[in-house]
This record gives sequence, C-alpha cells and structure tokens, in this order.
Amino acid sequence: MMVARTHSVALLGMTGSMVEVEADIGNGLPTLMIIGLPDTALSDARDRVRAAATNSGCPLPTSKITVNLSPAALPKHGSTFDLGIAMAILAAAGTVSAGSVERVVHLGELSLDGRLRPMNGVLPAIAAAARAGYRTFVVPAGNRHEASLVPGVTIVPVISLRDAAIHHGAALDPIPLDVIEGARVYDTEPPEHELSDVIGNADAVLALVAAAAGGHHIFMLGPPGAGKTMLAMRLPGLLPDLDAASALEVSSIRSLAGASVPRTLATRPPFESPHHSASAGALIGGGSKQIRPGAAARASHGVLFLDEAPEFATNVLDTLRQPLESGVISIHRANAVALFPGRFQLVMAANPCPCGQYGTAELNCLCTPNTRRRYLGRLSGPLLDRIDIQVQVRRVSAAELRLDGSGERLTTVEARNRVREARERMAARLSETPWKLNGEVLGTWLRSGPQKLPRDTTLVLDRALERGLITMRGYDRILRVAWTLADLDAVPRPGTDQIGRALYLRKSLTL
Ligand SMILES: Nc1ncnc2c1ncn2[C@@H]1O[C@H](COP(=O)(O)OP(=O)(O)OP(=O)(O)O)[C@@H](O)[C@H]1O
Ligand SMILES: [Mg+2]
Ligand SMILES: [Zn+2]
Repeated sequence: MMVARTHSVALLGMTGSMVEVEADIGNGLPTLMIIGLPDTALSDARDRVRAAATNSGCPLPTSKITVNLSPAALPKHGSTFDLGIAMAILAAAGTVSAGSVERVVHLGELSLDGRLRPMNGVLPAIAAAARAGYRTFVVPAGNRHEASLVPGVTIVPVISLRDAAIHHGAALDPIPLDVIEGARVYDTEPPEHELSDVIGNADAVLALVAAAAGGHHIFMLGPPGAGKTMLAMRLPGLLPDLDAASALEVSSIRSLAGASVPRTLATRPPFESPHHSASAGALIGGGSKQIRPGAAARASHGVLFLDEAPEFATNVLDTLRQPLESGVISIHRANAVALFPGRFQLVMAANPCPCGQYGTAELNCLCTPNTRRRYLGRLSGPLLDRIDIQVQVRRVSAAELRLDGSGERLTTVEARNRVREARERMAARLSETPWKLNGEVLGTWLRSGPQKLPRDTTLVLDRALERGLITMRGYDRILRVAWTLADLDAVPRPGTDQIGRALYLRKSLTL
C-alpha cells in the first residue's frame, strides 16, 4: 500500500470544516513533505510527527513521504492534524490497517514523546463532522468526556500515537501510561444564587424578573454596597433551562475556549463576568493561531455582566456593539473570518460617580458635576441605546436588613416559573413575527404594527415625547418593557398601570 487517507477537522471560530489527509510513499530520498499547512505550522508538525512516531515504537518509513491536506485553500491553524497525518503515513506504510484509518476522523496534537495532548474545540469539531455524516472519532483521552456529549457518534479515546496505532491493528503491545493529560470536566453545575436572599429593593428585583422574562438588557446604578453585584448574579437563575441546541452550543464554546466542560451537557445558562481591566480580545475573542472565543461568546445563551462598567476601556466596550446588534461575533484575520455566537443578555452595573456616594443620604459626594457627567458619559451612546431597563438600586438600611419578612420575598424557583409563563405568553403573541422575546421586537412594529396600543393607554408617553422628556428610542424601550410587564401580569396588553411602571423603571435614572 503506497497511498492512504484519513480525515480531520479544521476549526475557524465555531465553524468546523472537513479536511482530508492523504499520505503517499514514493521512491526517493527520505523526506517528509506536508502540503496544505501554513508555513509557520509546517516544520513544527513535521518534527512532532516524526519524533512521536519514533518514540512510540512505530517509526515512519525511510522513503519519500508526501502528505496532502485538502482543501488547500481552507485556513488551517493549530496542531489538530498531527494524529491524522501520523496515521495516514503509517497506513500507507502498511504498519496499520488503511481501511480502518480511512473510516475514522482523527483529532489531536502529538507531543514529541508520542502522547496525545488534549485540544481546544473537540466538541464543535465533532459536532461539525457528525453533521457531515462522520461517525467514528479517535480523540485524545483528555477530551473523551466532552467528545461523548455529541449524540450518535462513537468515540475512541487514545492516550498516545502508539495507542491509536494499536486501535488500527498495529502489531504492538500497549505501554500503559498512568497519566492522562488534562481532562477538563466538572461533574455538577455550579450552584445558582437564591433570589430571596435579596432584602428590600423591590424595584430592582422586579426589574430583574422583567429583564429575564423579556430578554431585556439591564443597567443598574447605585452606590457601593447597594447589592448590584448580588442582583446581577441572580439573573441566570431566573432564566429557563437551555434547549438541546443551545446546550450543545454553550458546551462547544467552552470546549473552544479551553475551559472545563460539564460531564453531561450544560442545561443552565452561563454567567460571565469579565473584570474591567479586560482587553478587547478577552471580551470579544482573539488570538493568533487558533482564534478563541472571549467572555461575550462564552456568555451566549446566558448573561454577560459588566460590573463597574464605566471602568472598562471605551474601545473594549465598543466591541459589544456588533453582537448586540446582530447576535453574532465576527473576528477578522488576514484571510479569514471566525464566527462565534454572541446572543447574550447584557447586565451593566455602575456607581453614580467615581467616589460612589452621589445621591446617598449619609455621605456627601466630593465629585464635581462635570466629573459625574464624564463618568457615566463613557457609557452613553450606542451601548446604552440597546438597554431597555435602567434601574436605580438603593442601599437598604440596617433597619430593613433586620426586618426579616422573608415570607414575602420571591424565591428563584417562583421567579423562574413566572418568567417561563410570561415567555410562553409572549411567544404565542409574537408567533406571526420573527421574534420570540419582547426585548427583540422592533420599535416601529410596536408603535404601528397590529398590536399597536390605543391612544389613551400611551397618553402619558406621548406627552413625555412631545415635551422632549424622552426620546423616540426611549419611547420604544418603555413600550417593550410595558409589554413584558403585561406578560408577567397575564393581561392581554399593557394598560396605563404597566406603562407607568415601565416609565418608572427608566426614569429612575439621571442620565
Ligand atoms: N438588598 C440586600 N439584601 C441583602 N443583602 C444585601 C443587600 N444589599 C447588599 N447586601 C449585602 O451587601 C454585600 C455587598 O453588595 P454588593 O457587592 O452586591 O454591592 P454592590 O452594589 O455591587 O457594590 P459595589 O458598587 O461596591 O460593587 C452583598 O454581598 C450582600 O451581602
Ligand atoms: Mg459590585
Ligand atoms: Zn462622587
């Protein structure tokens, strides 16, 4: 046998493409030529494959070896193809069964000593190949748990090149390796925080429930210690379980990010809270070889929390505009665009001024009006434009904290049920539209579509608009939230009560 082939997967963002790996052994001086890899990755791959094969007891033949990775034009980064290259060569040499190698997809980077390193992105790679009809996958043992999250495929975990060769029929004895590198799994999902821990602050709790129900982005303003962070951490708990497709996507992004992946598919929405010193790359994704997803992509189908939002660099905040508009993150490189999902719920928190004390009763703020304006002004514009709910969070008094009243407080489970019911109502109401959540609905449709509200209901809003107290955008945002409040209250459409409360959830801000 002089020619043999197998398959691997090239990942660009979340998109996996099949790569055919073909090895040819011909007459000539012993060389190893690899065609179809970028120059930078080439010599490294050659060295790794050669050394790994020798150290595994199945050296490459001393002939002229040519390996072709196709399609040639497909951008190929990382070292995912090592195992496929090694197996195709050993199949062409007759060391392993060519028939066996041809039927499977190989993923994994080799160490010089022949071990297989776990890699990032095994999950999206296998999901893509499974969609293309491939069924059997040889993967690094360290990735075996996440690999098995894809339904309907057979996973063959191997710890080394020698292990893989034995699987494909090589006449070698297994060498037991006691260390399996880097299995990144967690057994149980992290516990969610309980909503009824929040004392007082009824407005903020209602705002949070409304945000969860309508998929509205939310901004919380308040002095230090008012409980903004505490509230934000309770939002994921109010969201419904992930459906199967979202669950696979959430785990795939974690796999690509090199983060630990749950032993069974994650069912709860993610929560990402990047620090305000985060770079644009950390927030939106980046990297030179394999492009990794950032916090915004990891928050997809869940919550992205920007605590101390005005402290983020402006250019970092600006990167969120595209996903907020389109739900997609695209990262451009010289000859390729990596796409990641970017449909997250944004929560921002801020102090009212740099010293944090503006507006509190007990302490006086030392900041000048100018400093205050500049501080929050950093958030203004396109970002705040997308945020339907802006709520002021007040510090609860020591007396309120002592007063228990826990019986009346909404629990996470109760709130999540209300959110689920409200979402069912809005989905039914929006069934003839492209939207599922009130937070997604276009303003023009709300103002002039079939579900336009009667004039006497919107009177107070119309007046505020005429007097220039709110902008047209603000008007639309209040309408959206009013619809969510109506869906939470199980009434067919917002009345003056819901409009009034929606207006209050916005007006409480001095921006
Ligand atoms: N309404 C509340 N009910 C119960 N505990 C509260 C409440 N508000 C604040 N706390 C307590 O105070 C702590 C500090 O609150 P938190 O960190 O959420 O405030 P913050 O508004 O984020 O402040 P900062 O602006 O300094 O970040 C919380 O961990 C919680 O224990
Ligand atoms: Mg905080
Ligand atoms: Zn101040």
